[in-house]
Amino acid sequence: MPNKSFYITTPIYYPSAKLHIGHAYCTTIADAMARFKRLAGYDVFFLTGSDEHGQKIQQAAEKEGVTPIEYVDKIVAGFQALWKRLHISNDDFLRTSEPRHHRVVQEFFRRAKAKGDVYKGEYTGLYCTPCESYWTELQLDENGCCPDCHRPVEKVSEEAYFFKLSNYADRLLKHIEENPDFIRPTSRRNEMISFIKQGLDDLCISRTSFDWGIPVPDDEKHVIYVWFDALTNYVTAAGFFDDPEKFKKFWPADVHLVGKEIVRFHSIIWPAILMSLDLPLPKQIYGHGWLIVDGDKMSKSKGNVVDPNLLIDEFGADAIRYFLLREIALGQDGNFSRDALIGRINADLANDLGNLLHRTMNMIGKFQNGVIEAATTKSKTDDILMGDSWELVSAYESGMEKMEISPVIRRLWTFIGRANKYIDETAPWALAKDPEKKAELATVMYNLAESLRVISVLISPFMPETAPKIWAQIGMTQDFASVRLSDVKTRWGGIPAGQHIGEAEQLFPRIEVEKEAAPAKQEKPKTAPKQEKKAEPAADGVITIEEFKKTELRVAEVTAAERVPKTDKLLKLTLSLGEETREVVSGIADVYTAEELVGKHVILVANLKPAKLRGIVSHGMVLAASDGEKLRLLETDMPVGSVVR
Ligand code: MSP
Repeated sequence: MPNKSFYITTPIYYPSAKLHIGHAYCTTIADAMARFKRLAGYDVFFLTGSDEHGQKIQQAAEKEGVTPIEYVDKIVAGFQALWKRLHISNDDFLRTSEPRHHRVVQEFFRRAKAKGDVYKGEYTGLYCTPCESYWTELQLDENGCCPDCHRPVEKVSEEAYFFKLSNYADRLLKHIEENPDFIRPTSRRNEMISFIKQGLDDLCISRTSFDWGIPVPDDEKHVIYVWFDALTNYVTAAGFFDDPEKFKKFWPADVHLVGKEIVRFHSIIWPAILMSLDLPLPKQIYGHGWLIVDGDKMSKSKGNVVDPNLLIDEFGADAIRYFLLREIALGQDGNFSRDALIGRINADLANDLGNLLHRTMNMIGKFQNGVIEAATTKSKTDDILMGDSWELVSAYESGMEKMEISPVIRRLWTFIGRANKYIDETAPWALAKDPEKKAELATVMYNLAESLRVISVLISPFMPETAPKIWAQIGMTQDFASVRLSDVKTRWGGIPAGQHIGEAEQLFPRIEVEKEAAPAKQEKPKTAPKQEKKAEPAADGVITIEEFKKTELRVAEVTAAERVPKTDKLLKLTLSLGEETREVVSGIADVYTAEELVGKHVILVANLKPAKLRGIVSHGMVLAASDGEKLRLLETDMPVGSVVR
């Protein structure tokens, strides 16, 4: 049977500005999904690229005294180099300036016109040049400016071709309503439904005021204008013209991953164009949130644009990838800060993962001359570790299928925590002193090495550079590229007994914040430079805003609650954060009944280290107010998943 296929795309990026950490965020998510699907045995096609046409590019090229293609060539080479450094495993890179794309866009134009969906008219609109978008009066912001970039718009009139978007409003609405997963997350889906219900205007799809674009067939004074050109890239690369077999296999795309502000173009304009051509619609548009920096939107004028290349120089690609994927709940806006990045590197990578690896390697080296001996004994502690590994692999697979990346990583780190605890519980140093305990020691060492084998496979979509290094350190000889999820799904015991470990190498040295110099090469904020590194002395328990910001507070809905048996105070709550479900144990059973809690919107401390209470792992804590006698949960009518700050 042929493998199942999976086609995922990122937006194609404008080569008008340097790529920043926000672009790297989107591409890293898509890459993690592509790598996971390959691991799960799918045939994957992962596309990214560059959106090269338009007035802005033409103007920028003129300013530099070069042709538009010369101008974009250089910038696009920079994109490609960055993706390589970040270990982005795209299967194709589409440039809209390529002939293969021109042919498809012109064919799309011809077919839509033949269908009666394209007509010539006169466009008068409020145009935002930087965003290359027309807006209606109603859509402008409170100052009458562009609702996206908040710069002034100008009234523009010109002869233009239009696409009859209005023809498709009803069909679109029906499709969105009948396919709950077509637009994710739900908040974006709801926005799109109300947008369509307000009525759709026809879409201007050509311009005559510049010529850096794809000419309209048989009317060459027009070039095809932005979204009609850009969106079509997804079918060009899937082989619409060049490779019908490939097209059959990969179209419709499984996921168009895009930033929240362009969900509209992908979930309204793009499906309407495809409907006009009688082509199947993509299965899902996923709108991720925006990355802000130290609580502020990134912008050149603020001087807070974070260059991913400089971060990779300083911390390495895997640490950045890990941070982006772990820290930010997909679909929500998320904050990037150096402090938080260093915090994660030290806590999760150097401490949790790094310690597990180093302790295991050291002990196998010291106690067993570097040989992983067969496990021949079995204790309850061994069973718990193994059991957790099974549970992990299945939670991992189902979570990743739903693109719940951050929760999956958190679950993976719970297992790393379990394995570290297993070392403390089994105390191999004591076993090593007792010749009678040789077999138990061998079992403990085997189980630790095996845990690392599982971990190395499961972290590979997130940290593709680190994963094969761990694999090699525990002495695995199978080519890591051939490893599949089934290698850790089907059995505990994938390490052949008698295997020699490889060379130990410290993968994530701790970053000493105190000693660390300021980020010399990073673009420095021009406004109020951030006070970092030295933790402020805590005067009377005062904390800095940075310290407070480390606490991730989110609105969650209680979807189920039950008493923890044999306790007076504990309730086990199931909480929904929208895209994610959590279990939290809370000591409120003397104040609330389980039934009255269901449906409440409460505040969850979402990044609290998991803790075990009466055998149940609690992933967070709900906030309550107390005057010493009374206690009430903090409630809100804000939607599930909202960030509290
Ligand atoms: N060229 C269009 C997309 C056409 S797709 C057929 C475009 N390009 S862009 O370069 O401006 O933006 C590309 C993507 O980067 C968008 O999805 C946008 O949301 C994302 N991001 C830009 N800044 C971002 C952050 N600060 N954070 C996260 N993503 C952000 O739009």
